[in-house]
Amino acid sequence: KADIKSSILEINKQAANYYYYQLKSENGKQAYDYLRNRELTDETIKRFGLGASSKYSGDLYKFLKGKGYSDKLLMETGLFKADETRGITDRFWNRVIFPILDVNNRVIGFGGRVMGDGEPKYLNSPETKAFDKSRNLYGLNFARTSRRPNLIICEGYMDVIALHQAGFTNAVASLGTAFTSQQSSLIKRYAEEVLLTYDSDGAGVKAALRAIPILKESGLSVKVINMRPYKDPDEFIKNLGPEAFEERIRNASNAFFYELEVMEQQYNMKDPEEKTSFYNVIARKLLDFPEEIERNNYIEAVAGKYHMGYENLRNLVNQLAIRL
Ligand code: UTP
Ligand code: MN
Ligand code: MN
Ligand code: MN
Ligand code: MN
Repeated sequence: KADIKSSILEINKQAANYYYYQLKSENGKQAYDYLRNRELTDETIKRFGLGASSKYSGDLYKFLKGKGYSDKLLMETGLFKADETRGITDRFWNRVIFPILDVNNRVIGFGGRVMGDGEPKYLNSPETKAFDKSRNLYGLNFARTSRRPNLIICEGYMDVIALHQAGFTNAVASLGTAFTSQQSSLIKRYAEEVLLTYDSDGAGVKAALRAIPILKESGLSVKVINMRPYKDPDEFIKNLGPEAFEERIRNASNAFFYELEVMEQQYNMKDPEEKTSFYNVIARKLLDFPEEIERNNYIEAVAGKYHMGYENLRNLVNQLAIRL
């Protein structure tokens, strides 16, 4: 029901305030030091409303009960767990808290990170009547009004925050889940071009390859930036600074070439047999461009990049087109 949703949003806002003030208290000192050690300024902490959950499970519950909310409603927020022996307990305790805002600046959910190593590294709110992970992006409430011409999509909370702090106020992250078509349509309302900056590991490459067709489907132009030799944008910025990141943006690969570069690694180009297979795969992929002019432009670019004759490649593509 609609009024359950607004009640959840109201409670979430109270919780976000509670976590924010915890961070400034003695109980939240470790969380505050953790964030400062990760080079976040007080201004950034405030802007993103970062907080701390208490070291003792049950403090948020006590706080909200004091405001008169019913157990039934509190359970709807996803902020608590019900357990037969221990009753209702806080979902987040002894963690750094990242409130998740929607484009209207409403607090729809939370992420919580352990301080140091521990499992799970991040806990997130479950889906509730106010929180649909597949339809929201972390940071979009700020990125939507950024003056930059495109949106940067990265993996994590800390990536978004580090990028914003460095001036890249157009960064967003999908919420710890695979990128969805609803998120893609949401982005299309605010930008024409996206830059994918996923983590440098295998999971990041896989996630990028899955996101590219979804983004293109919405009519977005897609480029990919790699963060090597660093793990992710947060570490990249920390080590090389904003100018180096700006440079990576300028040199971002067209998503089509990125896909080819990833595929290329599966073939031994010194083996004529495998090289032929790779060329056939490229030719088939070029069929993805239905427009003749665009397709020919890509054929020309690919032929140049892989030292194939333009005519040869175009004939190969045309043969495949006829067979389809
Ligand atoms: P990463 O493992 O790359 O973490 O997960 P990170 O963002 O770089 O975090 P730091 O720098 O170690 O603090 C990327 C994103 O995936 C989701 C979170 O949204 C995280 O930011 N995630 C990751 C989870 O939801 N749960 C996890 O246990 C791990
Ligand atoms: Mn969903
Ligand atoms: Mn990762
Ligand atoms: Mn990281
Ligand atoms: Mn990461």
